[in-house]
Amino acid sequence: MKRVFSGIKPTGHLTLGNYLGAMRRWSAVDQHEADALFCVVDLHALTVDHDPGRVRRLSRQAATLLLATGLDPQLCTVFVQSHVDEHARLSYLLECVATDGEMRRMIQYKEKAAAERARGGSVRLSLLTYPVLMAADILAYGTDEVPVGDDQTQHVELTRDVAVRFNQRYGRTFVVPRTTHPEVAARVMNLQDPTSKMGKSDDVGPGVVYLLDEPEAVRKKIMRAVTDSGSEVVHDREARPGVSNLLEILAACEGGNPNDLAGVYETYGSLKKDTAEAVVEFLRPVQQRHKELCADPAYVEGVLREGAEKAREMARPRVDAAYRAIGLLPAG
Ligand code: TYM
Repeated sequence: MKRVFSGIKPTGHLTLGNYLGAMRRWSAVDQHEADALFCVVDLHALTVDHDPGRVRRLSRQAATLLLATGLDPQLCTVFVQSHVDEHARLSYLLECVATDGEMRRMIQYKEKAAAERARGGSVRLSLLTYPVLMAADILAYGTDEVPVGDDQTQHVELTRDVAVRFNQRYGRTFVVPRTTHPEVAARVMNLQDPTSKMGKSDDVGPGVVYLLDEPEAVRKKIMRAVTDSGSEVVHDREARPGVSNLLEILAACEGGNPNDLAGVYETYGSLKKDTAEAVVEFLRPVQQRHKELCADPAYVEGVLREGAEKAREMARPRVDAAYRAIGLLPAG
């Protein structure tokens, strides 16, 4: 059975982008078809200015939401990254295989470092080495497939390069993984600025639909989405980014194809209205289940504890093998 691994970073409240671009496939497809692990990657949340209490709260919330979207601990492994030491252990070895040039070429590093400097802040070293930790997350488990949104493609490519290089230098240790993306909504855009990604750490709340937004807030955000000049409803990401984003969201929530849906609507207003209702209905069961799970924190904690135990067992032999292959003396 193939092995699937993916993760989500607790740097903000989870968004419709996270759900449509990644999480949805995890519960609908991956957990049924693969030996799958899903991880709240809390160490990654420390790469930017952070508040310890907030990271803890968001980590718990992300884990609860993963279960609320339908991940079933009987079918897959759900855990928190910092509970499994193998990630950090392997990350250091991979730092000895990757190059600083590779790190500096990463688009997310360039964007986030520039934003941090523009705010007058300093850039944490861990922001630069982040993709190596992500590679360790993936490679520790012998992962075949990494289901992610479009923005993570470059990081998975780097993971492949590092795996191939390690295997060539030190002997075959790692599986070389491939990326999988959803057919639609692999990159959900910000409703107020449809040329940038809908990101959970964005300050611009009005353009971001959060999974726990009340129905009224969802409706308001979608009805106020920036659309394009012109009035024809067409799916063309370049020329009509705002309308195309709504068509993709609608297609992802209801099933169907954004090009076909474009033919159904005569006005932007009617498209917005239907998209708003589709998203509200799509989120309803997740919010309901989230409420139930919040009432039973011991259950969520138990899932994470067992998940970490399982994950540790899966990761340790391969990480130990990497320590031996690279030339470190066995502890005995
Ligand atoms: P993160 O936490 O930013 O996002 C989690 C997942 O959601 C996807 N995503 C989106 N998809 C479509 N449209 C959007 N607007 C959108 N925003 C986010 C992301 O592509 C991702 O799949 N580096 C990763 C976390 C990570 C990871 C890993 C992922 C760490 N280690 C190992 C896979 C495997 C990240 O920051 O994702």
